[in-house]
Amino acid sequence: MKPFLDTLAGRVPARPPVWLMRQAGRYLPEYRAVRAKAPDFVAFCLTPDMAIEVTLQPIRRYRFDAAILFADILLIPHGLGQGLAFKEGEGPVLEPIRDRSGVERLAVEGAAARLSPVYEAVAGIRAGLPPEVALIGFAGSPWTVATYMVEGRGGTEQATIRKMAWREPELLAALLDRVVAASVDYLLEQVRAGAEAIQLFDTWAGSVPGPLFDDLVIRPTRAIVERLKAAHPGLPVIGFPRGAAARLAEYAARTGVDAVGVDWSTDLGAVRHALPRGVASQGNLDPLLLAAGGDRLDAEIDAILDATRGAPHVFNLGHGIVPETNPEHVARLVARVRGEAR
Ligand code: CP3
Repeated sequence: MKPFLDTLAGRVPARPPVWLMRQAGRYLPEYRAVRAKAPDFVAFCLTPDMAIEVTLQPIRRYRFDAAILFADILLIPHGLGQGLAFKEGEGPVLEPIRDRSGVERLAVEGAAARLSPVYEAVAGIRAGLPPEVALIGFAGSPWTVATYMVEGRGGTEQATIRKMAWREPELLAALLDRVVAASVDYLLEQVRAGAEAIQLFDTWAGSVPGPLFDDLVIRPTRAIVERLKAAHPGLPVIGFPRGAAARLAEYAARTGVDAVGVDWSTDLGAVRHALPRGVASQGNLDPLLLAAGGDRLDAEIDAILDATRGAPHVFNLGHGIVPETNPEHVARLVARVRGEAR
């Protein structure tokens, strides 16, 4: 019995399952200790022993209902042959792709094979997990991955790729096609190695111009979901189009995902009412409230439990844990969600 998988299937356990985005990360001293031994972040992700260890750390500490593979959405550009480095204090830096020749250099063939240490990690994690804990594999959604590939970095308001979307839509479509193809291969390998559910992170869905939402978010996401489900009909898929609250119900209905991640700016109760029957929700506590802690944290945890009572809901944050978070606040959250702290 895995409460997380039950919930994604539309059933409602007595207590919602709980895991947290970025649950393996810098807020944990044991993560920082492993991280300090890795030569760089890409090597860290591609060293199975390290990825297995940091994936299991938060499970040992908190007994979350799900583990998420430790990797990064930018391994897809890396696998496609695009130069990628993580710079201290700067985040990811890629050699930007701005033209046809840049897109054509991306080698879909062999991209998934280049990421084979990830699948080795998946198998090792599965072997190390308690039987009731599910394993989530993941990739970025094509649009979000493409924003990094075109901009060359994060935090840019995606101006370059938005201009490309309007001026050279065929070029962007060709880029998205390659990302879709590589991501499908990559995710199928994760499933083959033991991933039991897939999450697609669309961190920058909110910067897509409204008239292009269908082309840039829904269609590429649906293409991935269809191909995954053609190979594995029962495989649950969670989509997380951050910043796209007004279109969540449409997104769920048209992409075919089993669950939607809800960001912290969104009214969860309203989303629950709008979602198609049987679609699960996941979220949406503000990660900065988890960092703040205190009585207000308890109150907002309870408010999420109240807003989702009777519905298939996975307790989570509305985005990733921030590094300054006190690990004791996470313990308190888990206890409260489980009804063990009043
Ligand atoms: O625990 C987990 O959630 C699993 C591992 C995971 C990481 N990144 C590890 C990571 C997952 C699911 C991701 C997804 C990811 N990566 C996203 C989508 C979700 C989101 O947070 O919006 C994005 C946009 C990225 C790209 C990325 N990776 C950026 C922008 C950065 C730098 C910013 C930062 O937080 O440092 C990363 C690095 C990264 N990926 C870290 C971790 C734990 C921190 C790096 C470190 O430990 O030095």
